[in-house]
Amino acid sequence: MRILKSSKVALLLLLIFSADFLQAASPDPERGKKGMVVSASDLASQVGMLILKRGGNAVDAAVATGFALAVTYPAAGNIGGGGFMVIHLKNGKDVALDYREKAPLKASRNMYLDSLGNFDASRSREGFLSAGVPGSVAGLIYALEKYGTMKLEDVIQPAIDLATDGFPLSFRLSESIASEFREFQKYSSSAKVFTEGGELLKEGFIFKQPDLALTLSLIKEHGRDGFYKGTVAELIEKQSEKMGGIITKEDLENYSVVEKEPVKGTYRGFGIISMPPSSSGGIALIEALNILENFSFDKSDWNSSLYIHRLVEALRYVYADRSKYLGDEAFYHVPKEWLTSKEYARIIFMKISDKAALSKDILPGVNPAEESLQTTHYSVVDQYGNAVSTTTTLNSSYGCKIVVDGAGFLLNNEMDDFSAKPGEPNQYGLTGNEANAIQPGKRMLSCMTPTIILKDGKPFMVTGSPGGSTIITVVLQTILNVLDFGMNIQQAIDAPRIHHQWLPDELYFEKFGISKDTYDNLKNMGYVFGGTRTLGRAEGILINPKDGTIYGATDPRGYGKAAGF
Ligand code: DON
Repeated sequence: MRILKSSKVALLLLLIFSADFLQAASPDPERGKKGMVVSASDLASQVGMLILKRGGNAVDAAVATGFALAVTYPAAGNIGGGGFMVIHLKNGKDVALDYREKAPLKASRNMYLDSLGNFDASRSREGFLSAGVPGSVAGLIYALEKYGTMKLEDVIQPAIDLATDGFPLSFRLSESIASEFREFQKYSSSAKVFTEGGELLKEGFIFKQPDLALTLSLIKEHGRDGFYKGTVAELIEKQSEKMGGIITKEDLENYSVVEKEPVKGTYRGFGIISMPPSSSGGIALIEALNILENFSFDKSDWNSSLYIHRLVEALRYVYADRSKYLGDEAFYHVPKEWLTSKEYARIIFMKISDKAALSKDILPGVNPAEESLQTTHYSVVDQYGNAVSTTTTLNSSYGCKIVVDGAGFLLNNEMDDFSAKPGEPNQYGLTGNEANAIQPGKRMLSCMTPTIILKDGKPFMVTGSPGGSTIITVVLQTILNVLDFGMNIQQAIDAPRIHHQWLPDELYFEKFGISKDTYDNLKNMGYVFGGTRTLGRAEGILINPKDGTIYGATDPRGYGKAAGF
């Protein structure tokens, strides 16, 4: 049980970038000398890279990528949802932007309970009532105006062009749109965009989105007012009224971005910068890393039963704390310092036994549905030393599935991330209490974990992932794979993952992710298995501190792209 000394860190760096580690089963990561954009969409990554090549900084590129994703990755890229951006600036300043959706002013604590007080999940997940007030447009514009160097018209134009001229649907995107065909058919505004006269959109179809192009043009012309006031705001309010929603023009006009200090920690000498509430991601990640730092892992430990057990033990505490203490800080006091302290982690570490699973006295959990993997993360670094880590979502795949008629974009169903009733699980099986209860104007608690890791104060790794409740474990394992096991960024992202979230008390793993021996060992320790599932879609960047080479990797579970130059 010892912490690695700096000489060990140097050795680790050598291993991460040594040729040995570039020769395993994974393809080589994308390489760049000046900049890198990694996103879930080939076209959006190329847009970001174009901006970097024109001399834009990482924020310019991230904003351009964000708007492009709203066109080319409609399941999660969005202007009708919300997100988080963690920025490390070349001058050493770290910033966290919270543009998470907010509960509308007419929202109330028990709005998803029926007359008997039972939680009605269909209303928090489907239809207009499930939508929070969108934050993405405000967030992207805030980031650009404060930390970018280019004009909005320049960074948004590629998205407008993609929406106007269209682009051929890839097989994976056509398959993704087809998976929601029945839902889109329910709403004429959605069928107009995501079917061709009621027929499935096929691979190769040139996907044009004229209404979305118009909305983006209004944003280009009027900035945030192009979305939060005028035509678009009126269209949202009108449709909301018609379809049983509660979002009003007042909600839209009042929407505000919050700029915060990121949560910060260290792990074996590396600096960790991540997202504070209203995401639980950063606190959970740092709490887990602090606990795990008390162990020392050898390369041969990777995905052994003992390693998985220690990981899970840490995660049980992390997710239990999440359910009790985490919520929107503007409404609830979150004991951030304590949860991310080494002292607290040490107390937890002392309780962890290597012999058996410790959660005998926890409440029985529920089985979370397979998450739709439809949040999206993008990572950017530029030639100047800036780095941006952004995760954004509509919550479910294609959000509430309703396109705002005439405005061409989907609205989120983020309200389900609130704890609608104490102890009642949301669609990811996550429970919560007072801290995350619904209140007008409050932001629902997220798991999104956009993270930047620093080595000697400079960007070393940028990563994040979708995956609902699994986001935290996916990001954690990607980081451990690099920092403890010396994998390169592609290997770290490709490697099979496990997931445990305290409740339900079940261990999930990816297909072929653990050996029969490991499975049997864990079973003998008392583990219950929830089955196999795909876990996350991480998008990552790693920078070699010695020569500045930038390595980018997209997750093979998705169909994105690392674009470097
Ligand atoms: O904010 C959150 O934590 C969730 N709304 C994220 C949803 C998600 O990752 C969906 N994709 N799997």
